[in-house]
Parts: sequence; C-alpha cells; structure tokens
Amino acid sequence: MPVGTQGTVKGLTIDQVASTGADMILGNTYHLRLRPGHETVRQLGGLHAMSGWDGPILTDSGGFQVFSLGALNSVTEQAATFRSHIDGEKVVLTPEHSIEIQEALGSDVAMVLDHVIALPASKPEVEDALARSIRWAARCREASTLDRQALFAIVQGGLDPELRRQCATELASMDFEGYAVGGLSVGETPEEMYAAAAVTTPHLPADKPRYLMGVGTPRDLLENIARGIDLFDCVMPTRNGRNGLAFTDKGPIKLRNAVHREDTQPLMEDCPCLACRHSRGYLRHLFIAKEMLGPTLLSHHNLTYYGRIMAEAREAIQQDRFSQFAAEKLAGWGHRPV
Ligand code: GUN
Ligand code: ZN
Repeated sequence: MPVGTQGTVKGLTIDQVASTGADMILGNTYHLRLRPGHETVRQLGGLHAMSGWDGPILTDSGGFQVFSLGALNSVTEQAATFRSHIDGEKVVLTPEHSIEIQEALGSDVAMVLDHVIALPASKPEVEDALARSIRWAARCREASTLDRQALFAIVQGGLDPELRRQCATELASMDFEGYAVGGLSVGETPEEMYAAAAVTTPHLPADKPRYLMGVGTPRDLLENIARGIDLFDCVMPTRNGRNGLAFTDKGPIKLRNAVHREDTQPLMEDCPCLACRHSRGYLRHLFIAKEMLGPTLLSHHNLTYYGRIMAEAREAIQQDRFSQFAAEKLAGWGHRPV
C-alpha cells in the first residue's frame, strides 16, 4: 500500500497513484484527526470522496504515530494521551475514539489501537505493552459499529518468540478480519525483524490477510513474503523518491550524484512509469534545480517498482517458484536470502 498519511499520496494525483498498479492505499487516523479533523472529513463525504480514491483504503489507528510523533505522550490503561505536533492541543486517544475517527473517515479497513514501544525494551515492558494491546483490541472490536468496515488486529511482542506466539494466538482466537504484525522497523536489525515475522505468522490464520506494518526495503518485502506476509505499507518508495533516490533491480540510484549529469539512460529499461520516459541526466537536473516534478516522477517510479515486486512475487508463488525468484532479485540488490 502506498502511504497517503494526510489523505494524499504525497506529490501524486490519484490517477498517477492508480497507474502505479496500487490497489489499496493507507491513511492515518492521527494526522487526519488533527487536520482537517475527522468531522470535517465526514462532512466532505469521507476519505474516498475527499481524496477521489475509489479503491480500498486502510487507516492506521494512531498507535504508532503517538509513539513516533506525539510530544509528551503518556499511555495509561484508559488511553494514549498526546499533544498535537501541529498546535499543541491535548488529545486523549482511547480505543473507542480511534474507532470513532476511523468510522468517520470511512475507510474499508480499520486498525485496532495498539501500544507501540521502542526496541530494545525489557521483557516486562514488552509484556505490559502486549497485554494492553490485546485489551485495547477487544475494546476496538466492541466499539466498532460498521459492518462494511473490516477490523484488523495488531500483534506486538518485541523480538521475544514466546511473547509473539502468545499475542498472535490470543488475537487469532478473537476473530478479526485480518492480522497485522506490528512493533517492527523500530530500531532492530533486518535479520531480527525477519525472525520476529517468522515466529508470528504460523500462529495467524492462513486464510486471512497478514500485514507487516511500516516495512520496508525491497529486500524486506521478499524476505517477509517468504515468511508468510501478504501486505505491507511503507513511506520508503515515496519518501526516498522525494529525496532523489530511485529503487531498481541493480540497487538504489542516488540521482543527485554528478555521475548522472550526462547520463542518457532511463532509471530502468523496461519500466512503464512516468520517470522512465526520461534520462537520468534530466531527472538529476530536476532535483538539482529543485523542480517539483522531480519528486513526483521518482515517487511514481518507486511505487511502480514496489508494485511490480509484489505482482511478480504473486505470480512466482502461483507458479511454485518463489524461492528462486526471490534469490535472483536479492542477488541483483547485493543480498543473499537469509
Ligand atoms: N506502523 C508501523 N508499525 C506499527 C505498529 O506497530 N502499530 C501501528 N498501529 N502502526 C504501525
Ligand atoms: Zn520507472
């Protein structure tokens, strides 16, 4: 899923997002609650009408943003309380309020409010956040009133295999429409992240979506698909694109580098995106000259590239040749499968 935190995938029109091959996009409860406000979004007809995206939309619950953005935040059994990074407003985010906001936004998939902590953390800290996340998931289930909005639970548990198993098993017994693996990409190594996904997915229903939140690099996609993950969201393709970094089969290209000044080649020969109609030299020029088209074109390329990795992975799985496909792709990026 391309990330559209504030009701827009940064720098792209909705038609451009669709032309990357994306099916579903992500929006954020935390940001939209603060600006323009969930009641304003409701007045504007909901997130679909407002943004013009008529495909599925998943909204994150705010749990992660409270952890990563909310200044002076505190978590009690009742709620996560934070001060707005925009105007300092004090917001009390209970599980019930998170659901109320997501219902006002009108997303197709809502996420439960969870308690995210930084890694490394002590075992009692991880256990405490995990137990609270399970209780908050139950409160979200209770609070949810829309039949047409699916609700996904989020497995926490840090890097501890036993805690991951416990959390996954407990949430799986509560019958959500899908399951996310959360609390990763928060300071651990890639190998630690892959190990945490590997111990979690076997305890989640195989017939429901398994979603790894906030991940990751092209390598992270394939390594986690190998461990049973179906769905991802990440700012990497758009954020890196805005900063002049393009992902390709031969690894990332930093377009600002002087070596690209007179380079007539496209980023990739066989890429159907809007950027690959141009030379690397022209794309470099756009970034050096700070033209807004540069970030747009590179975001379009990176999302097209990510979408293609996922499409090729699906095809390889159907044809029972995923391991070989992944090993070849990883080799192009300079990695071996782990
Ligand atoms: N985005 C990335 N990681 C997480 C997580 O653990 N929880 C939530 N709610 N969102 C995330
Ligand atoms: Zn391209």
